[in-house]
Amino acid sequence: MVTDLKNHARTTSEGSRLAKYAEHWQLPDAETRYARSRSRTRFRRYDQEDALVGRWLRLCVPGATVLDLPCGTGRFSELVARCGHRLIRADLSYRMVAHARQLGPSEHVLGDLCCDLANPPMRPASVDIVLVWRLFHHCRTPEDRAIVLEQARRLARRYVILSFYNRASVTYWGRRLIRAMLRREPKCRGAIWTSDLRAAADQADLEPIEIYHYRPGLSINSAACFRVRETSIGTALASVG
Ligand SMILES: C[S@@+](CC[C@H](N)C(=O)[O-])C[C@H]1O[C@@H](n2cnc3c(N)ncnc32)[C@H](O)[C@@H]1O
Repeated sequence: MVTDLKNHARTTSEGSRLAKYAEHWQLPDAETRYARSRSRTRFRRYDQEDALVGRWLRLCVPGATVLDLPCGTGRFSELVARCGHRLIRADLSYRMVAHARQLGPSEHVLGDLCCDLANPPMRPASVDIVLVWRLFHHCRTPEDRAIVLEQARRLARRYVILSFYNRASVTYWGRRLIRAMLRREPKCRGAIWTSDLRAAADQADLEPIEIYHYRPGLSINSAACFRVRETSIGTALASVG
């Protein structure tokens, strides 16, 4: 269906506001290092994230279509298969998506795309769930975050799942303090208040189903699952005629 692993990035993303967030991931060996750091043995929250994302993916009955954008090295491929869903993987980094493609199982994978989240070459409301994992916290401005939410909502018929960095946490303020003492640029500039996420999602016609904080008040890591407002699906489809 959408197996298109040609370097779409060159034609679709140059100059996009979000393209800069992929630069780091285009470096040699970035994919190998990332895959290793997210492996089950090394990544502390692996099972917790798997369980959380799995619970949200199962809001749809088996057979749903999931777009994992950015898919990175494809660590959710197996989980989507276990849920009985079909998967489209996409990432702006050719290296990352090529790495994901080597992973099994792949019978449920409809295709792999190298594309920019700011400009995905897909029709509105063409998938059931859009999964945006570990990208939102890189976005440093409200405008960039709005693009992520709008694009995810445009493509999703049912749900948008995303992870984010939460300002209301000891980790965030601890990191800020240490950087200030070292007179270095602040870290975690993409961290936001949950209220700001709710407001931005509302603007994008997304309603929260659940906002999850791994260790409330302590951990910077949080995640959210949104439902696409039905009225917005009609509008998205009408816009393509
Ligand atoms: C931290 S990794 C997360 C990957 C995966 N979701 C995971 O949780 O393992 C961030 C990914 O975002 C991708 N990325 C960054 N900016 C992007 C953009 N504008 N469009 C599509 N992918 C982008 C990078 O190439 C990288 O693979």
